[in-house]
Amino acid sequence: MTTDYDPIAEQYKLSKQQPWRLYVEAFGLLELAGDLAGKRVIDLACGEGFYSRILKHRGAASVTGVDSSQGMIDLAQRQEAEQQAGIEYLLSDIREMPYREEFDLAVAAWLLNYAQDAEQLQQMCRAVADCLVPGGRFVTVNSSPLVDWDKVPSYRKYGFDAKITRPVKPGAPITWTFYVENDAFDLENYFLSRETHDEAFRAAGFREIVWHPARVSPAGTSAEEAGYWDTFLDDPPAVFIECRK
Ligand SMILES: C[S@@+](CC[C@H](N)C(=O)[O-])C[C@H]1O[C@@H](n2cnc3c(N)ncnc32)[C@H](O)[C@@H]1O
Repeated sequence: MTTDYDPIAEQYKLSKQQPWRLYVEAFGLLELAGDLAGKRVIDLACGEGFYSRILKHRGAASVTGVDSSQGMIDLAQRQEAEQQAGIEYLLSDIREMPYREEFDLAVAAWLLNYAQDAEQLQQMCRAVADCLVPGGRFVTVNSSPLVDWDKVPSYRKYGFDAKITRPVKPGAPITWTFYVENDAFDLENYFLSRETHDEAFRAAGFREIVWHPARVSPAGTSAEEAGYWDTFLDDPPAVFIECRK
């Protein structure tokens, strides 16, 4: 089952308010994105535009958000109508985007982990490479293929849990359960190894492929009591990757 985001778009938006989203996810991704001044940026699997809006506010020359969920794009466009940030949104599978060498930076939060096999991952990576100018960069955060599922802890105190459907093999479903406002909802994505990712990046024409472990921002460290982040950082469920075309 691939997660259908249309019915959970509102709940998903609430999950973006959990502290780890800000202090680990956004901190790590935006650090990798770096200086945005003058950059034409594409936000792949933009969802309801969480990062599209941040990227535009942080100085990108232009931001285009692409997502295959009508519910998510509706939410993004509703916020754009209210805020007039000048972001363009496109409803499309990223593998069918019309863009060729039009962007300096591609950002993707939680996209690659929707590939269910090496072929789909290669198609995604090729689409990312195609939309970037030569020398353009791709930065992304995903479910980490480096998790040791035999000793994965509970992440309940951070507002979610993650479990894999055994056996742990290419395409094994990973279910993330988010706890928001006395309610819970599930997202499903898929396990593919680090090697499969590296091969897909290289086959698509990417180089300088660097994997970065999750880190907590200084603000996140001071916002929580000592030790709060230990479980997350000991077995990080998310990983950051950057590469250059
Ligand atoms: C977990 S959400 C992340 C949304 C957003 N990046 C964020 O961080 O808030 C994953 C998104 O990926 C989108 N998605 C999954 N596969 C896709 C594909 N092949 N093409 C475009 N969007 C895709 C889903 O519709 C969903 O909105």
